[in-house]
Amino acid sequence: MIELRGREEIETTVRAGVLEHGTAELLRETGVGERMDRIGAVHHGVELRFGGRGHRIDLTGLTGRSIVVYGQQEVVKDLNAARLDAGGQILFETAATGLRDLETDEPKVRFRGGAKLDPEAGEIRFRDDAEEEELVCDYVVGADGFFGPSRSFVPEGVRKEHVRAYPFGWFGILVKGPPATEELIYCLHERGFALVSTRSPTIQRLYFQCDPNDSVENWPDEKIWEEMHARLDTDEWTLTEGEIFQKSIVQMRSFVCEPMRHGRLFLAGDAAHIVPPTGAKGMNLAVADVRVLARALAEAYASGATDALDSYSETCLRRVWKASRFSWWMTSMLHRFHDEDDFRYRMQLAELDYVSSSRAAATSLAENYVGLPMESAASADEPAPQDALR
Ligand code: DHB
Repeated sequence: MIELRGREEIETTVRAGVLEHGTAELLRETGVGERMDRIGAVHHGVELRFGGRGHRIDLTGLTGRSIVVYGQQEVVKDLNAARLDAGGQILFETAATGLRDLETDEPKVRFRGGAKLDPEAGEIRFRDDAEEEELVCDYVVGADGFFGPSRSFVPEGVRKEHVRAYPFGWFGILVKGPPATEELIYCLHERGFALVSTRSPTIQRLYFQCDPNDSVENWPDEKIWEEMHARLDTDEWTLTEGEIFQKSIVQMRSFVCEPMRHGRLFLAGDAAHIVPPTGAKGMNLAVADVRVLARALAEAYASGATDALDSYSETCLRRVWKASRFSWWMTSMLHRFHDEDDFRYRMQLAELDYVSSSRAAATSLAENYVGLPMESAASADEPAPQDALR
C-alpha cells in the first residue's frame, strides 16, 4: 500500500460518515467491525424537511435495513490497524510516480518516499534524500482518489469520462456539542438545501448549500447560524448551536470513468467515479468496488480463473451508475436552482410531498439510501427483477 499522506492525517481528517447496511456488514465479515459496533450509531430513519415541516422516512420499516453513522476516518483507523497487525506494509508519505507494463503480467509501480502534498500549489514535494524505487506487482489497484495519477494510465483512446457539474457547493461545518436531532435531516428551503448530520455524541456535522465559488472567509459564525436557522427552524424545533471548529466548501460533481480497468490496473473508488454528496454514496461505492475486486483476486489466485476480474469493470459500473442516478436525483430534488424559474421549485416540492406520502416512492428512496444489494458478477445467479422486488 502506497499512501501519499501521513498516517495521522488520514486518521484524523473528517470526511464521509454514513455506512450503508452492506458496508457495515462487510466490515463485520472481514473482522474490522468491532469498533464500529461499539461507537457507531445505528439509524433507522431520516427526515425530509420542506414547507416548514418534517416527514420521516422509516428506513428500517420500509427495507428491513438500517445505516450506521461512523466517520470515514474511523474506518481508515480500523483498516490501517488490521493491515499492520497482519504484518502488512503501508508506505505513508510516499507518492506513486508512475505505472508501466500494465498490459503484461508484471505491472510495475514507481514510487518515492519522503513526499508531502503542498495544498496551495497542488504539488507533491519530496525530501532530497528520498530515491525513486520500483515495485513489481501481480496487479495494481488504483485507489488514489479523484486527483490521483492512476486513472491517466488508462489510455485516452480507451477511456471515456462522463462529467456533470452542479451550480452549487456545500458549506460544511463541524460543531462541538450534542446532536440537534436523533436522525439526519435533509431540508429544502427557498434559500437552499441544508443537512443536519452527526459524527458522535459530542461532534455534529452540518451543511448548507452555497455558491461553489464562495469562500469560508465570507462566513463568520453568526452569519452561518443565521443561515442555518433560516433554512431549518420550524414552529416546533430550533437548531442547537455549538462551537464551530472547522469550515470548508465542497464542490458538487458527478463523474464516471469507463472502463474501470486497463490490463492489470484496476481503478477503485473516487479514482473512477465521483458522486455529489447528497445521499452519502461516495465511501460506500468505494467499499463496493473493493469487495468485488477482492473476491475476483481471491478467485484468480485460488484457481487461475479470471472471469470475475474480466467482468470487474462491468460489475462495478452497474452499481456506480445506479448510485450516480440516486445521488443526482437527491441533489436535484433537494437543492434550490436559483437561476431557474419557480416551476422547477414547485416540481421539487411536489416530488418531496410524493416521496413522503407514497409508500412506493418512499421505499424507492429508502432502498437506495440503505444501499442496493451487493452485486455478484453478472451471472446466472443474479435475481430476476421481480425477485428483487419481493
Ligand atoms: C453526511 C454527508 C452526506 O452527504 C449525507 O448525505 C449525509 C451525511 C455527513 O457527512 O454526515
